[in-house]
Formats: sequence, C-alpha cells, structure tokens
Amino acid sequence: EKGGYEHYMRKEIHEQPESLRQTLAGRLDVSAGDVDLDVSFPPGFLADLEEIRIVACGTSYYAGRYAAQLFEELAGVRATVEIASEYEFGAGRTPDRTLVVAVTQSGETADTLGAVRRANAAGARTFAVTNTLGSTVTREVDGTAFIRAGPEIGVAATKTFASQVATLAMLAVAVGRDRGALAAADARSVLKDLQGLPGAVQQVLDEEEQVREAAREYGDGEAFFFVGRALGVPVALEGALKLKEISYDHAEGFAAGELKHGPLALVTPDTPVLAVLTDGARAAETMNNVTEAQTRGAPALGCVSAGDTYDTLDVSFEVPNVGVVEPLVANVYLQLFAYHVANDKGRAIDKPRNLAKSVTVE
Ligand code: M6R
Repeated sequence: EKGGYEHYMRKEIHEQPESLRQTLAGRLDVSAGDVDLDVSFPPGFLADLEEIRIVACGTSYYAGRYAAQLFEELAGVRATVEIASEYEFGAGRTPDRTLVVAVTQSGETADTLGAVRRANAAGARTFAVTNTLGSTVTREVDGTAFIRAGPEIGVAATKTFASQVATLAMLAVAVGRDRGALAAADARSVLKDLQGLPGAVQQVLDEEEQVREAAREYGDGEAFFFVGRALGVPVALEGALKLKEISYDHAEGFAAGELKHGPLALVTPDTPVLAVLTDGARAAETMNNVTEAQTRGAPALGCVSAGDTYDTLDVSFEVPNVGVVEPLVANVYLQLFAYHVANDKGRAIDKPRNLAKSVTVE
C-alpha cells in the first residue's frame, strides 16, 4: 500500500503535485480573479472584520503563520496566530468582530478543539481548515474549508502542510475580494501562482537526487539551523520541525535577522545553515545573514528562486518562479532533506519515537 515507496512519508511527499491539484480543483476562477471555496459568512461580516485569529499546533501552526501574512497582505485584515494550547487558557479577550480559524489536519487535536471551544464561549465566529470529513472540529465551528489532501499516514505532516497553505491562500483571496481590499488584477496574479504550484512542486521532486547527495554530505552536522524572512520564517520553522521529528537531530528555525541576536554563538563548521532565499522571503537580506554564518565556517544550503544565483552557497536548490508560494515550494526541498537525513540514519520515519499522528490529549 506504500505504492513502491519504502516509507509513507516519502510517498506523501511525492503525492504533493496531485494532492495540491485536488486542493485547488474547481476553486480558482483566474479570469474573474476570484475563488469559490463554498463557504459563506453572514452579510457584512467580512467587511466589518477586525481580526483573523488563527489557532493551531505544530505543522498546522506554521501553515497558520504563513497564512497570516497572506491575510494581512491580500485581505487587508489584521491576522494573528496563536498556539492553540496557549490561546485556550490565555487571558486575551476575543472581540466580536473576530474570525477564529482553527487549522488542523486531523480535526481531532485536543489543544485545537480546546481553543475552538474557548472562542465559541467568548462569542467569536469560528471556522475550521481541515483534511478530515466528519471530524470533531467540523461539528463545533460555524464553517469549514476542506484541504482535500487525501489520507496522510506518516506521523510527519507533509502534503497536508502544502494543502493547508494553499487553502488558506485561497481563503485570503476570497476575503480580500469580498472586503474590496484586493484588486482583481492582483488576485489574478496570486491565483496564477497557485495554479503553477503543482507543477513547481513536481520540478522540485525531480531534483530529489541533488537533495539525497546534500543529505549525505551535510547530514552529520551537530545541529541544523533553518532561516528565512517574511514567508520564509514559517518555512524555516517547519523545516526544522520536520528534521528534528524524524531524524532526532537538533534543529532550530528562526527569522534570519535574529541570528546575530544570539543563535550565532552556536554556529560552527559543524552546524549547516539552510536558508529560504526565494520571492516572498526577502532573499537579499536573508543572504546577508547567511553570510554571517558562513564567516563562522558554517556550510550554507539555500533554496533559491530560479534566475537568481548566490555564488557563495555550498548548495543551491532551484525553486521555480511562483511568487507568493515560492517559499511553500522551497519547503518541499526541506521535506526531502529531512527524509534523507533520517533515512541515512535508519530512523523509524513513519512512526518517530514518542510521537502520535493525532494528539488527542492536552
Ligand atoms: O492534526 P493537526 O493538524 O491538528 O496536528 C497538529 C500537530 O500535532 C501536527 O502538525 C504535528 O506537529 C506533526 N506531527 C508535525 O509533522
């Protein structure tokens, strides 16, 4: 049932072009610059919206961090992201004109359900972005968008992250159009980028051999640092989570500008740095930070927009030009890197120690 793959995780990484096609199918109206997600809000609700507050855990939280930037940019609405287990018991008030969006692959994560219950009790409107029809979360919110990624068996979330971000990007366009915050021409350009996503991911998958070699060469690092800016930050955080989760190596992700405010003290020739250097991720500024790490001897691997070159990188992974979803495509390189580092070490990739696919305790 693994379809010839040795692990579900690798199968699911390779399924991404198809799962993304399913996520997008029938939902994009590129010529009109609009999206049909089959969701509805009370009249005037979106126009009056003050804040979108995303609540989620783990990889879904990082998808939320990516989406929050898109909501701010495309929908002109303040968007905040909170770890569900913090929101649940937090003291912050939930104002009326807030949409609380729970992002959860399984729809069963106890912390996320707890956050939804707190939001409902405070009188907020709630919404779920999930992969699972009939899951608990769908019964407790006012509306749901399904990410349609298909079943994910590997404990490490891969294809569902991509489909979560794609779904949330569509939601950001829909909200932006409804509020009159996003011009049709700008919407069209984002929708074209989304349309290009499955093909771009396929191009990355075709470069797997390059990633396998990089994993072999750099996989014995003492620790791994993942950096990016803007949309590259959630991808750096997700890249680090994936690597630590399945390889058990120490990996940390952070905003590239923070390197010099502390983490640089940890950088040595034994700590590879992986950087997101694409559109949407302030590549030039990020590269300055990467250079600071290289000066301390760290090897540097970068995911770089096609057409750009940074001669000093030790490894350049090429990312096709798809605008605001380039960092999401770069993430596929980081998934493959984590997979091959873990596989070379003989780890239990689909069922890493101490972890479960669905975390139903708080
Ligand atoms: O089902 P959910 O999206 O609510 O799960 C949230 C996290 O438990 C999950 O993303 C976890 O971090 C993954 N194992 C990461 O690969």
